[in-house]
Amino acid sequence: MAKDNRQLREDLNRVMEQQEMFHGAPDTLYEPVRYIMGLGGKRLRPVLALMACQLFKGDTDKALLPALGLEVFHNFTLLHDDVMDRADMRRGKPTVNVKWNSNVAILSGDVMFAMACRLICQAPDERKGAVLEAFNDLAVGVCEGQQYDMDFETQEKVSMAEYMEMIRLKTAVLIAGALKVGALLAGASEEDLQPLYEYGTKIGLAFQLQDDLLDLYGDEAKFGKKLGSDIRENKKTYLYIKALDLLEEVDAIALEHEFSTPTLPFGDIAKIKKVKALYEKVKVKDHCEKAVSNLFAEAGEALDRLSASPAVDPQALAALRAFGSELLGREV
Ligand code: IPE
Ligand code: IPE
Ligand code: MG
Ligand code: MG
Ligand code: MG
Repeated sequence: MAKDNRQLREDLNRVMEQQEMFHGAPDTLYEPVRYIMGLGGKRLRPVLALMACQLFKGDTDKALLPALGLEVFHNFTLLHDDVMDRADMRRGKPTVNVKWNSNVAILSGDVMFAMACRLICQAPDERKGAVLEAFNDLAVGVCEGQQYDMDFETQEKVSMAEYMEMIRLKTAVLIAGALKVGALLAGASEEDLQPLYEYGTKIGLAFQLQDDLLDLYGDEAKFGKKLGSDIRENKKTYLYIKALDLLEEVDAIALEHEFSTPTLPFGDIAKIKKVKALYEKVKVKDHCEKAVSNLFAEAGEALDRLSASPAVDPQALAALRAFGSELLGREV
């Protein structure tokens, strides 16, 4: 009998609390680790890994530690990302770089990366090689994507194709990679991995587009991050690129001008207001929402290709499909 998502989350929390790594010395290194992991979050990536394991009739108990490794890796990226994005709020609480400082966020992040590797290595021996390879691939991808994201802050022209490739790397490879790790742990075949990975890539792209939308149009109390931070940091998001494409020349020049210099201290509120008004002129929010729903539809089509596989548990496939649909309306 397949476990539902609530049970999978409970299992993850149980093994997380048993981990020595949260209780080491020095406290100054591990307290921020306990802090960020304890703030929760959606636990999307390990849940997806465990769902993929169930999809191929695997034993989720044997996948718990590597799945937790994916969550620790994700939280490591958040510590460093918040330094790089100068963010002061995450999961409704001060970021590690604000509560402590950037040096702490860097090193506690580093130790989390090492812990994530340790957890990934807890995969059963016969699958360890493949799982480690998938993990290394996704970790390299995230770094590449994250660097493009930073480069684009000051790169004058960023095309939609360049943006989509950037978010594929920084976000979608981890989400697709989590599904791949879970499926590998259940012994899935190369043939079945392919549509699953494509599904993960599509929902990963949609997930980042939603994040970009929520960064401006979300409810700060629910979203848990400071609204407008992408505009403050001159992030070239879908919204920005689409707006530049649709705006009349004079407005497009005004938008480019807003993004051409670093935001002055206390200048963010006026800048966000101006940019938001320009976005509104050409209804980029609607365009972005449409792109999100198109990507979820494409993701569903990739899953359809799995339904004929004898290795797949139909109930687990339905659960994964339902989980993807729930993501469509997310506010967090
Ligand atoms: C935040 O990820 C980083 C992005 C890829 C947008 P999540 O939205 O999954 O964050 P948590 O883990 O639920 O806090
Ligand atoms: C998400 O980028 C990707 C990574 C964290 C690597 P963002 O910078 O948009 O993520 P948030 O919005 O800070 O969570
Ligand atoms: Mg970032
Ligand atoms: Mg960020
Ligand atoms: Mg964001």
